[in-house]
Amino acid sequence: MRFGEKVSVDIFGASHSEQLDVILKGITKGHAIDFDGILQFMARRAPGKDPYSTPRLEKDFPIVTSGIENGITTGADIVAYIKNENKRSTDYSSIRYTPRPGHADYAAYLKYGKDYDPTGGGSFSGRMTAPLCFAGAVCIQILAESGVEISAKPIMIGGVWDDDVAMKERILQAKAKGDSVGGIVQCTVRGFKGGIGGPMWDGIESKISSAMFGIPAVKGIQFGSGFDGAAMTGSENNDPFIFKDGKIQTETNNCGGILGGISTGGDIVFTVAFKPTPSISAPQSSIDMQTCEQVKISVPGRHDPCVVLRAVPCVEAACAIALLDMLYI
Ligand SMILES: Cc1cc2nc3c(=O)[nH]c(=O)nc-3n(C[C@H](O)[C@H](O)[C@H](O)COP(=O)(O)O)c2cc1C
Repeated sequence: MRFGEKVSVDIFGASHSEQLDVILKGITKGHAIDFDGILQFMARRAPGKDPYSTPRLEKDFPIVTSGIENGITTGADIVAYIKNENKRSTDYSSIRYTPRPGHADYAAYLKYGKDYDPTGGGSFSGRMTAPLCFAGAVCIQILAESGVEISAKPIMIGGVWDDDVAMKERILQAKAKGDSVGGIVQCTVRGFKGGIGGPMWDGIESKISSAMFGIPAVKGIQFGSGFDGAAMTGSENNDPFIFKDGKIQTETNNCGGILGGISTGGDIVFTVAFKPTPSISAPQSSIDMQTCEQVKISVPGRHDPCVVLRAVPCVEAACAIALLDMLYI
């Protein structure tokens, strides 16, 4: 799994493999990297710490084998691995021939055949975002050197908007019924300079979108006013230019800080839609692929009743990799 051009990330491994590996290429030498800062960032994604996430407890400690010496980047590829320590692969023996609705099992079977790895979701698992967050944390620290700040937050969970307590309550309600919920994460980038990006596929929207769809369970993204803007008139949706604090700015930010694929110097704002976690214990219909008979399944194993809270740092990480790549191109 590879993303990026000048700054690129390779991730390999699977949910129940020995370890997850990540190679971050293209980072120049001489950047100070705060390892504790990386650990704190990765802890925001780590599982097993509250009732809103899977009970699968993992340390998620990255072992860096190259590219950072004494806290400074060397200019070589930054290589790290993260051990998978809390595996329960037997939970997945029933899934091999009865694919989980909403998960990648059936599609993976079509692509890889009967020997595909369903344990823990294989390489489709949310666990793949641990190495993503490692690489993203490094990129966030480098972007911060030039004043770029990326911050994401959940704004809707299971139909409940903008209320942290009620959103969490909604997750517990779904969990109590053996069900799951999805939601929306909003991400804001401050301090990203104007004039970066390009037309068509060279645009910032293209790059950020591609990065976001690398996060499992992402089903949509919009920039600025997005789909709401489609229902507005031009006079409502256009952002009037003004001269303020010694620079040209826009009065509103319906464009989400991007015009023509190029940054305007305003805040880059986008929202990402996550579907409800596919693995639920409530009964669902599937097919036994050996007999082609209809069966009812209750998905076993340990799962997040909602992926949104753990996905917040993943959105920041993926955004940081995409933007650092855009700056280097
Ligand atoms: C942080 C995170 C945690 C996830 N945890 C689970 C989980 O516990 N159980 C599950 O079925 N899916 C989980 N997912 C989502 C699946 O990996 C994803 O839905 C599946 O691979 C199918 O891919 P798609 O939804 O992108 O089509 C998680 C995703 C993320 C980002």
